[in-house]
Amino acid sequence: MLELIDVGVSLEGDNGKVQILNHINLNLDKQKLYVMTGPNGGGKSSIAKAIMGIYPPTSGKIVMDGIDITEQSITERAQLGIGYAMQQPARFKGMTVRDLLTLASGDNAEKSLCDLLFDVGLCAQDYLNREINASFSGGELKRLEIASVLARKLKVALFDEPEAGIDLWSFKKLTETFETLNKIYDMTIVIISHQERILRLADQVIMVAGGRISEITDKDKVLDEIEMIDNDCRCRKACEIRGKSNAAECNR
Ligand SMILES: Nc1ncnc2c1ncn2[C@@H]1O[C@H](COP(=O)(O)OP(=O)(O)O)[C@@H](O)[C@H]1O
Ligand SMILES: [Mg+2]
Repeated sequence: MLELIDVGVSLEGDNGKVQILNHINLNLDKQKLYVMTGPNGGGKSSIAKAIMGIYPPTSGKIVMDGIDITEQSITERAQLGIGYAMQQPARFKGMTVRDLLTLASGDNAEKSLCDLLFDVGLCAQDYLNREINASFSGGELKRLEIASVLARKLKVALFDEPEAGIDLWSFKKLTETFETLNKIYDMTIVIISHQERILRLADQVIMVAGGRISEITDKDKVLDEIEMIDNDCRCRKACEIRGKSNAAECNR
């Protein structure tokens, strides 16, 4: 459905060219939910930006439904049905929430504006007619951006760390929204996240580190690893109490 073939991205940094992505090979299927995870600075947002056309590939190809879109602009890719809710959302100054969501959904409104706000944990009565300005918190802006992506009938939706700055209740709501989106719509979803709750939704987990995809695996393996880290931490705590310095020593 969406394929990245040996994609590389280099950008002009302060000290000359920097290679930020290398040999990215990825094949995203219809109706599947992918979670992209890995250390900070590993290249996750850059992969999303390469798919959206914000960082044009300097090598390799991006193909969607058999069409080579490598040279296409952000607008052209948006028209093809690719959407990206950024890690740091843009401010949509001077617009009301209603304007933003109406503009995003266009004629394709799959859901009412009220439902869209509910899905990201915002109450329509409080927000619909509010002007978007500096009075909005980072978490509120983030949720509006997610709502504006949900408003569109997309083929590929990319969400970059949607949990950032969001309270627990809204996070729970958002997780449920991702779950239903995946079931109801014919959509490919990629969520960049470190949250166990989001990892649990994944059909596949894409591990990104050092500007490369280090592994594509199923969620059970990743969740097992998280559990091992948890156990290790618990063990370390016990060790500290018993005056031993590390987990291996403790297990003896
Ligand atoms: N516009 C840019 N100019 C220079 N370096 C960049 C730019 N965007 C990203 N990078 C660098 O590329 C690497 C990967 O960044 P990013 O994709 O944001 O990582 P992640 O989302 O996994 O935390 C980082 O080292 C980052 O500093
Ligand atoms: Mg990022």
